[in-house]
Amino acid sequence: MAKAQEKRMAKAQVPWWQRAVVYQIYPRSFCDANADGVGDLAGIESRLDYLAWLGVDAIWISPFFRSPMKDFGYDVSDYCDVDPVFGTLDDFDALVAAAHQRDLRVMIDWVPAHTSDQHPWFVEARASRDNPKRNWYVWRDPGPKGELPNNWRAAFLKKRAWTLDETTGQFYLHSFLAEQPDLNWNEPAVVEAMHQTLRFWLDRGVDGFRADVVHNIGKDPALPDVEERLAKIPHCALNDEDITHEHLRAIRRVLDEYDGDRAMVGEVSLLSTEQVAAYYGKGDELHLSFNFPPLFAPWEAEPWRQHIERSAAVLDPIDAWPSWVLSNHDQKRHRTRYGSEARARAAAVLLLTLRGTPFLYMGEELGLEDAVVPPERVVDPSDRDGCRAPVPWTAASDHGWGAEPWLPWPPEPEARSVETLREDPESILQLYRRLLGARRQSPALLTGSLTLLASPEGVLIWERSRDGDRRTVVLNFASQACTVELSGEQRIEVASDGCGEGEPFTGNLAADQALLLKPA
Ligand code: GLC
Repeated sequence: MAKAQEKRMAKAQVPWWQRAVVYQIYPRSFCDANADGVGDLAGIESRLDYLAWLGVDAIWISPFFRSPMKDFGYDVSDYCDVDPVFGTLDDFDALVAAAHQRDLRVMIDWVPAHTSDQHPWFVEARASRDNPKRNWYVWRDPGPKGELPNNWRAAFLKKRAWTLDETTGQFYLHSFLAEQPDLNWNEPAVVEAMHQTLRFWLDRGVDGFRADVVHNIGKDPALPDVEERLAKIPHCALNDEDITHEHLRAIRRVLDEYDGDRAMVGEVSLLSTEQVAAYYGKGDELHLSFNFPPLFAPWEAEPWRQHIERSAAVLDPIDAWPSWVLSNHDQKRHRTRYGSEARARAAAVLLLTLRGTPFLYMGEELGLEDAVVPPERVVDPSDRDGCRAPVPWTAASDHGWGAEPWLPWPPEPEARSVETLREDPESILQLYRRLLGARRQSPALLTGSLTLLASPEGVLIWERSRDGDRRTVVLNFASQACTVELSGEQRIEVASDGCGEGEPFTGNLAADQALLLKPA
């Protein structure tokens, strides 16, 4: 496998999205320039120097489009405008220009599977059964006794995925909230309108998109029941239709109308890497896809070994470039899941040295934990407020926000502020920076092959290699120290706990420690 991987990479010119580390910004919680308690685009622009200093290559900004905010922006009421809470289109243009000046690429979120119920398309569609936009959404008659059209479940509230529209007497489909009706991609006018939304942002210079639940755009027009044993799972986790691939190929062609350098990473929230792999097509669908099964893996060597092996076995044969992610705005932060900063540090070494494009989630470089959100401050319909807590920029009492933010602070906001951790050479923030720097310098880490080596229980060891450049990673998942044997002399380039960097590797690994090694 390793030889074939290396050969393939040597042949191809490596596109930016294969070399990049992408940093996800949840705009409400990143940085607030106008001190109204909600982050904004001008706030992001003001922190680009920080991101350049950190050493990431691209940002992905979660939705900032006009929205009633029932799902905090994932319910879009105008795809082609900025919600006033985040700023204006001019602010967006300024942000893209400022990012590009710093060699940072900009990816934005595209929400193709559903709109807000306040989107003018849905307002029209629900006006009457014969409205020209009726077929832009998915409508079905109730059964003779008022039965629902099928047994599909919506995500979040775990209710049925259908809501009756009283005025017109039909149900409409929503895979998420009732305020997020599913678009009907079987209607050609929808396809065309959504392609236009891509062009709108491509024309403004974005480098790519993260496509929200993109596997959910195609639907079997028969809308069949799912098997009873699966009927408790939200339908969007099961919906895996051939027609979606046709839509993705057409979407790819829209991106290719531009300079061949624009990319799309899909949120394919299906249950296995095998299913996810299909969404790369034959290099003619998604450029990258999230692969969530590893995100749900426990912090243990064996499951991680299996995920690394599966990623290689399933994606490589179809030339699909892997991606890796441990945290995002939908899941408990991995610092919280794994239970300690030592593990979060080891996880940073893992994430930034596997073969594939890593996605960081804002604040993981600070070792942030989820906020504890008291019941009276809960705002999300699906219990995701904790990981969306605001980023503390300074040690001052407002942490650089100038106002009380929309969500409570994560734990230890003074000690974990950017300002505090930047001054501490031993901080997790400085560890991320050293790792990102080491990665940039190393062809092996950027695009080299990956080979898992034999290792003692509780430890994983892998080698990355390209064009004579070589790195070895040793990761102790266990909470006791151990020793490992490697062939050849190695020097510690980066250590998750900062210990012994620059020194020869003796074979000793501390508890929860991960090391990036370079041939001596
Ligand atoms: C995706 C988003 C999530 C959103 C959902 C519905 O899973 O990541 O935040 O709520 O889609 O759009």
